[in-house]
Amino acid sequence: MQILILSGSRNPHGQTAQVVEAFARGCHENDVNEVQLETIFLPAQHIERCRQCDADGWGQCRREGTCVIVDDLEALRSKMAAADGVVFATPVYFGDLSESLKAFLDRVRRTSWRHQESSGIKDMPAVGICVAGGGGGGSFSCMVQLEKVLTTSGFAVVDQLSVRRQNLPLKLELARLTGCWFASDRLEP
Ligand SMILES: Cc1cc2nc3c(=O)[nH]c(=O)nc-3n(C[C@H](O)[C@H](O)[C@H](O)COP(=O)(O)O)c2cc1C
Repeated sequence: MQILILSGSRNPHGQTAQVVEAFARGCHENDVNEVQLETIFLPAQHIERCRQCDADGWGQCRREGTCVIVDDLEALRSKMAAADGVVFATPVYFGDLSESLKAFLDRVRRTSWRHQESSGIKDMPAVGICVAGGGGGGSFSCMVQLEKVLTTSGFAVVDQLSVRRQNLPLKLELARLTGCWFASDRLEP
């Protein structure tokens, strides 16, 4: 089973990374399926923002399910399509997704929403992780935004983890258990 983790944090040792690592540990604890896991940090990828092409703002993405911008989007879309499940992790910024995840998902949504079958994303199991590591507020509004953009793109959002600095130790354990569950046979059609 292949699980792809996309993180919108720039910090490989931050709180988001800790939750992702706990989730990954849980995936590997699942001994039913041979789990192959890849984690990608989106701030290190070349992902431009959407150009809102054409006079009406719709563009090639709606017509053809592809983007005119040549960057790392296509490679990441292929990785998602090849996976059995995708995890989207983000630090909470202003009660919302981080800019790198937002820019990425803006374009995933545009290229996939009318082309869910051909993009390979339709009904793909997905988990969201939102880490409010400052004051601790805003993870719920972040989760709402994440669910909305993922659902419009065609993902089946099967769970989300709301994490705040104050409950990080508890949520690390929950992330491990959720990872073990996510890597189970439940993901098989
Ligand atoms: C621009 C910005 C906005 C932020 N907004 C929030 C917020 O709304 N709520 C919160 O608890 N923390 C907020 N933080 C703090 C981050 O969530 C915290 O630093 C988090 O741990 C960063 O993730 P990382 O540890 O993976 O780098 C914000 C940080 C930045 C840089």
